[in-house]
Amino acid sequence: MSQVAEYSEKVMDHFANPRNVGEIENASGVGTVGNAKCGDIMRMYLDIQDNVIRDAKFKTFGCGAAIATSSMATELVKGKTVEEAMTVTNKAVMEALDGLPPVKIHCSLLAEEAIHAALWNYAEKTGVKIPGLEKPVTDIGEKEA
Ligand code: FES
Repeated sequence: MSQVAEYSEKVMDHFANPRNVGEIENASGVGTVGNAKCGDIMRMYLDIQDNVIRDAKFKTFGCGAAIATSSMATELVKGKTVEEAMTVTNKAVMEALDGLPPVKIHCSLLAEEAIHAALWNYAEKTGVKIPGLEKPVTDIGEKEA
């Protein structure tokens, strides 16, 4: 019999009560990423003023782990400078959620990539250079082995 994946309490909490769901009108940066393999899509909105992320919101059409990782990712980037937001990697999101089952790790990658996509959009609009930021992919499935 295959094993049922176990989720931490934090994952369950962020799935059941996701923070920062919605859109930001006239956002400083918007990024959308999907994974063609599972069909999930995540869109992140960032409101950036004076180089600081004042607000972050998301809309995710996806699995519970994708919702929990989007929720946690938006919580983690809020209040950070755009440079500091680069430290919000999928690993950081997973750690903040007390881990994810191995089959769900790609969901946290979607969150990292969606943040990068929103930052990229902001950088393109403003001409700001964000160290370490690479052009995001629209299909995260390309990054997986
Ligand atoms: Fe694909 Fe969760 S199953 S993002």
